Amino acid sequence: MSQMVLATGNAAARRARGRCVTVAVDGMAFHSPVHVGDEVSVYADLISTGRTSMKFQVEAWRRSRDGDEQVKVTEAVFTFVAIDSGSRPRPVPPG
Ligand SMILES: CC(C)(COP(=O)(O)OP(=O)(O)OC[C@H]1O[C@@H](n2cnc3c(N)ncnc32)[C@H](O)[C@@H]1OP(=O)(O)O)[C@@H](O)C(=O)NCCC(=O)NCCS
Repeated sequence: MSQMVLATGNAAARRARGRCVTVAVDGMAFHSPVHVGDEVSVYADLISTGRTSMKFQVEAWRRSRDGDEQVKVTEAVFTFVAIDSGSRPRPVPPG
């Protein structure tokens, strides 16, 4: 989950051109475990943008060291809010 926050935080910060914070995580589902040594990939798709907030559909996938099969392990919708230097919400700039 922390990897998903980091990855999505990067995507949010790029879209909002600056600092963002997580305000909500919805529908978190853990479908399958991640094993020690697995490669984990996180994909974050922007699904909607509000005045100051952005919603991302986020998925984490695993692949073992010795195989090619990829398995979706976790998914959720993360909402980030763009914030200013005083940690107050600020408008997301036009895309
Ligand atoms: C994020 C934060 C700055 C927002 O401040 P706020 O006073 O609640 O701001 P607002 O009520 O104006 O809401 C700002 C936006 O967040 C959205 N929002 C607020 N609470 C939400 C929730 N629970 N779920 C989804 N969106 C939410 C609002 O709809 C609004 O979006 P919009 O401008 O696109 O319409 C403040 O709540 C905060 O600092 N929270 C703690 C964040 C944090 O510590 N995150 C780390 C977690 S590990």
